[in-house]
Amino acid sequence: MNKCIVRPITDRRSVRSFDRSSIDQDTIKRILYAALLAPSPKNRQPWLFTVVTTSEIKTLISNIMIDKIKILKESNNNDSTVRIELDNALITSDIILNSPILILVQYRNNATCLDDGLSWSIMHNELEALEIQSIGASVENMLIEATANGLGSLWVGDIMYAGTEISTALNLKYPLISAVVLGHSEKKSAKSTRKKMKDIVDWR
Ligand SMILES: Cc1cc2nc3c(=O)[nH]c(=O)nc-3n(C[C@H](O)[C@H](O)[C@H](O)COP(=O)(O)O)c2cc1C
Repeated sequence: MNKCIVRPITDRRSVRSFDRSSIDQDTIKRILYAALLAPSPKNRQPWLFTVVTTSEIKTLISNIMIDKIKILKESNNNDSTVRIELDNALITSDIILNSPILILVQYRNNATCLDDGLSWSIMHNELEALEIQSIGASVENMLIEATANGLGSLWVGDIMYAGTEISTALNLKYPLISAVVLGHSEKKSAKSTRKKMKDIVDWR
């Protein structure tokens, strides 16, 4: 029998089209559990995840993105690089609309009420930078766990074009910092290229 071994880190791809099949709750919970296992500075766990399952909310988010991107396109009409990025963000808004599951990632930024000692309270900006790194780790954990569970995923940064507007419309408690889309891949995604090891590692 040809057993297919999943190697989550090497097999993960950004997936941008999903079939209509649903994802069971246990799988979603496993993926969220992987997120909460991520390391964080002083174990502060500075994240909050909002799981969006209804098409009404996905439509609302997608429409807010489209409206905001239109405004940004009008004010950046002469900049072709920005226009291309905004067009890509429009594609992302469509991916969100058609995604089976959307997870909004918020930054639980309580850095003003530190209980970790002086060294951290005088390094406010550094702490924020470290906390945001740890949110990245929690998102990556979700993508890896999704792959391990046979699901496709996409890390969605384009949502930030309308971060404030989406936060306000959904009455989110903390700043929206990122999002993740999950679903069963419709087709096998191509492997993206990577820089060569020699170009990214400096041995000393
Ligand atoms: C922080 C972050 C934000 C991203 N935002 C988007 C996005 O909004 N839309 C999108 O299509 N892809 C997005 N991506 C996916 C990248 O385009 C993708 O990871 C990269 O091209 C490498 O491809 P791979 O994930 O298949 O290895 C994002 C990735 C990261 C890490």
